[in-house]
Amino acid sequence: MKQLRLAIVGATGAVGQELIKIIEERKIPYTDLKLLATAKSAGKKIEVGGKEYTVEEATLDSFKDCDAALFAGGPASKAFGRAAAELGCVVIDNSSTFRYDPDVPLVVPEVNPEALIGHHNLIANPNCSTILLVTALWPIYKYTKVKRVIVSTYQACSGAGKEAMEELKEQSMQVLKGEPIHPEHFPYQIAFNVIPQIDVWVDGDYTKEEMKLVWETHKIMGDESIGVTPVCAVRIPVMRSHCEAVYLETEEPLSVEKCRELFSGEDYIVLQDDPEKLLYPMPVTSTDTDKTYVGRIRKDTVNDHALNMWISFDQLRKGAATNAVQILEELIKRELI
Ligand SMILES: NC(=O)c1ccc[n+]([C@@H]2O[C@H](COP(=O)([O-])OP(=O)(O)OC[C@H]3O[C@@H](n4cnc5c(N)ncnc54)[C@H](OP(=O)(O)O)[C@@H]3O)[C@@H](O)[C@H]2O)c1
Repeated sequence: MKQLRLAIVGATGAVGQELIKIIEERKIPYTDLKLLATAKSAGKKIEVGGKEYTVEEATLDSFKDCDAALFAGGPASKAFGRAAAELGCVVIDNSSTFRYDPDVPLVVPEVNPEALIGHHNLIANPNCSTILLVTALWPIYKYTKVKRVIVSTYQACSGAGKEAMEELKEQSMQVLKGEPIHPEHFPYQIAFNVIPQIDVWVDGDYTKEEMKLVWETHKIMGDESIGVTPVCAVRIPVMRSHCEAVYLETEEPLSVEKCRELFSGEDYIVLQDDPEKLLYPMPVTSTDTDKTYVGRIRKDTVNDHALNMWISFDQLRKGAATNAVQILEELIKRELI
């Protein structure tokens, strides 16, 4: 197997730290590993696979002798992503910078791995909420076309990065001690609150985070006729793992039992659906795993071609780091790198 010269950009961040764990867990074959971040982190020591690495400041030169780079460095994507790809380094990018470019594949390996064929060294990892949604829709879509989806997201604070995680911790302590709160990362207090806004406003008073669910679901599933309505993307005071309440309408009627059977046939899905035993997906269960958890499946009260359900997964892992590493594995398997 080809041994890679690999870089992780944003190695000191929330997703970067998961990338480091996951390349070890999944035994990605590399000879060289560069851990890149900003100048502020240069010189920090990080242990990977029993060996100590020194974090370097990312510059364009960092990518000259790299076969692949996993980008989780926020602004670094715009600064270096395309230029690194032009130098011959295969870039797998976690940001939204390139997701809608027609020449950039947007890939969830369980759904559309063939989109990697003919790539131009730049591959985009989808938005975390979209990965959660499409991994749950896909087993159903393979059985009968999904015509309509109405979705609300309940997104953990780690989705906004390491500083946001600190803000949740600090504010929780401050509220409990009765101290004043001074929000910095989120627009309002997040501890003991929910905020119905994630990312900036776009047309029609939707947020960009909401519209990513529409644009990216169409691109990944290759079907622009799926009617996707993002009701609301909501930030919740949970550290890790996003959840979604999903209404979906199918072309053929789909019973709850058949739907459960379809989910049970996929090894990346954990069906947790037993109302009597109070069994349903929750962040405390999905955190630190790579699975999509599905439950609360029931017939819609109005439309007999529709079901409602509740889904959850660890967005730092399958919603970002694991999906990116799986893309790298797929490239290796298909000899596309
Ligand atoms: N968090 C999630 O659940 C999630 C899910 C999907 C996608 N993403 C995307 O993944 C990326 C990283 O998110 P995160 O949550 O891990 O953020 P984060 O915790 O804030 O970490 C950001 C990382 O990027 C580095 N960085 C920032 N600017 C850089 C630059 N110009 N050059 C090189 N490195 C730079 C930071 O280095 P320093 O430590 O030196 O500042 C840090 O390592 C973002 O594009 C985000 O949209 C995140």
